[in-house]
Amino acid sequence: MKYFIGVDLGTSSLKLLLTDADGKVINSVTRDYSVSYPKSGWSEQNAEDWWSALKLGLPELIKDINGEEVAGLGVAGQMHGLVILDKDDNVIRPVILWNDGRTWKETEYLNTVIGKEVLSENTANIAFAGFTAPKILWVKENEPDNFEKISKIMLPKDYLNYLLTGVHACDYSDASGMLLLDVKNKCWSKKMLDICSVKEEQMPKLFESYDVIGTVLPEIASELGISSKAIVVAGAGDNAAAAIGTATTGEGKCNISLGTSGTIFVSSEKFGVDKYNALHSFAHADGGFHLMGCILSAASCHKWLCDKVLCEKDYALLESEIDTALLGKNELFFLPYLMGERSPINDTDATGMFIGLRPDTTRSDMLLAVLEGVSFAIRDNIEIAKSLGIVVKESCLCGGGAKSRLWRKILANVLNIKLNIPVAEEGPGYGTAILAMVGAGEYESVSEAAERLVEIKENIIPEEELVALYEEKYRKFRLIYPTVKELYKSLR
Ligand code: XUL
Repeated sequence: MKYFIGVDLGTSSLKLLLTDADGKVINSVTRDYSVSYPKSGWSEQNAEDWWSALKLGLPELIKDINGEEVAGLGVAGQMHGLVILDKDDNVIRPVILWNDGRTWKETEYLNTVIGKEVLSENTANIAFAGFTAPKILWVKENEPDNFEKISKIMLPKDYLNYLLTGVHACDYSDASGMLLLDVKNKCWSKKMLDICSVKEEQMPKLFESYDVIGTVLPEIASELGISSKAIVVAGAGDNAAAAIGTATTGEGKCNISLGTSGTIFVSSEKFGVDKYNALHSFAHADGGFHLMGCILSAASCHKWLCDKVLCEKDYALLESEIDTALLGKNELFFLPYLMGERSPINDTDATGMFIGLRPDTTRSDMLLAVLEGVSFAIRDNIEIAKSLGIVVKESCLCGGGAKSRLWRKILANVLNIKLNIPVAEEGPGYGTAILAMVGAGEYESVSEAAERLVEIKENIIPEEELVALYEEKYRKFRLIYPTVKELYKSLR
């Protein structure tokens, strides 16, 4: 028997998935960790917490199988986070995460002084506060001692891969989000490295996501209880991995993820750039490319409202209180910009906001407004795709938020597209297990494996009446941000 492990290094937890070579999910384990918000708009994590979660979670994942039969492993991870290592490979400072907005000055510098055209020419993208290059400039400016110590620059999942194999590696999909990769030519951009005062030796070696970077180090293998012959593939950014896990490969397919962030991901065989640079132009884990729009707070808005405001852990109870006859008729609006916003508005000053509160507003009205507000922000990205001539008629849906039947229904109707729900809901974990199978030689290509293994269990079809109601509400939603945009800036 051969087994494969897919690891998803998420923002709120590490999720591990065990499959057999036919893609059947045998077990899954989740280990939570925390995010710290040291200042308004900042978000950081300790890289050691990810490793502890892996060391605790993996033995539990494989407790009912023979660990010697684990043939391969892959890690997907939250993108863009800056992990810096010193000459002894020790982590220099807490990791600055993908949704951290502290780099607004560096982002502005890159987009205006270096210029969007130069950035786009060299990397296929412009600067967003969450990307890695502005973070490097921030460390250089604000923590020069730490900057001097940098021997290697890594992304979150690459740090776990390093601890597993001893190899400093990065795959093209994740590297694309650093603003240091020449995405079209799949190599580090010398121009961008110069702009960030970084040498190529400080960067990890580049691989395709399904390439084998090494095997598990013997001492780590014995600690985890798996075979030291288990291969480790380069893995992928979590969105590219989720796309593999939902068979979003090849030309023109779409996956939507409702995780801590919310993303729309359109796969493509050929390299292409959004002429407005509102969508990211990144490499895909199947060897091709994709366009992606990312909202910084999706399921995290739901979690924030339930945990921090309503103080109610029973999410199902809260959702059951929503009167479904109110769908599309609720007069409360919510802007989901809890961490500022990336796509398409690129505004670190934006914050979350309710508008339309009345004396009779209930907690379920607020919850409904949150589910709708996040769906509208996703729609903003679908509208950008439309403006580029990309027609999305259907999409897969994955991520924690996709577990909510109500949210799926709202989203399908707000977007007016059919949503397909895969059997294996753990998109990134399932996707990296597939990458590991390809790396181990079980399948010829990523597309072939994904086509063969991914099954859809349910379709959510939009309903005409609800689509019309949401069309009207979305029209009103779109009026809010432009009206408060300048106000956000003056409140900075
Ligand atoms: C994508 C992005 C997020 C993180 C979340 O550009 O920033 O989706 O990868 O984990």
